Amino acid sequence: MTDTAFPPDWTPDRTFGDGRVGLRIADGIAVLAIQIPDKMNALDDAATGGMIEALDAARDKARVLLFTGVGGRAFISGADIGGFDGPQPTGQSFLDRQRALANYPLPTVAVIRGYCLGGGLMTALNCDFRLAATDASFGVPAAKLGISYGSAGLARLVECIGPARTRRLLYVGDRVDAATAHAWGLVEHVYAPDALWDAAMAMARTIAGNAPLSVRATKATVADLLLPESRQDPGAILALSLACRDSRDFEEGRAAFREKRKPAFEGR
Ligand code: COA
Repeated sequence: MTDTAFPPDWTPDRTFGDGRVGLRIADGIAVLAIQIPDKMNALDDAATGGMIEALDAARDKARVLLFTGVGGRAFISGADIGGFDGPQPTGQSFLDRQRALANYPLPTVAVIRGYCLGGGLMTALNCDFRLAATDASFGVPAAKLGISYGSAGLARLVECIGPARTRRLLYVGDRVDAATAHAWGLVEHVYAPDALWDAAMAMARTIAGNAPLSVRATKATVADLLLPESRQDPGAILALSLACRDSRDFEEGRAAFREKRKPAFEGR
């Protein structure tokens, strides 16, 4: 049985990828949901293409993006295994589309219930951070299928949980629960299933109310710091800091502090 109650009251404003991806934008918060619950939100080529279109559609209309999977049983159960018989999405386009998610300028938060496997875990790791329900489970069953994820596929996992836990997860090919994922640093927060969505929205509202240039500068700065030193661009990062210092929002932030009121940031 498919539990369609997650996210609660889910009605997308627009859909992409032949309906596989839904997008809802309100109050500066974009929610992008993979909505193929009968297939545990397995990603085929249309779904990853729809994901890119939805990200493009939200880019200038929101301040934060929640990425989730409809139905409550799975965030994403990986690439659609049927697609391994054809050229997509397990080839380059899957990785290119993952890269586009990782490099997306808005802050992105993965909101995870149920299975988060393989390419689904890759998708979650390409969001800025992860909130999970206690019913979430995580794994990369590559060795059970006979595939290798390659450097691009494993880079974020090694960065996040380290080489030994990555090896353990892939050699064994099993799933770890949300508590283990939390202890490993794979997810930042864990909530009861019925509390997850409200917690995610509360965090999204806070982020959306903060100064957009500051948040985006942090995203770019952290990404730059993760590059090898030879590829870091301290000049570009300094320019982002200066843009914040010279922004109207910085004036507004200081005025709001002085006047003991909530700032109203404009993103400029
Ligand atoms: N690709 C294609 N179809 C998938 C899928 C995937 N990655 N994951 C789940 N599905 C489909 C199942 O085939 C099934 O379809 P059916 O109803 O037509 O038979 C449906 O989703 C429901 O999944 P089911 O296996 O019945 O649910 P379950 O609760 O017993 O197990 C999983 C769920 C996710 C543990 C199991 O489906 C699974 O192991 N999927 C593959 C995960 C994987 O290897 N991902 C990595 C790919 S890189």
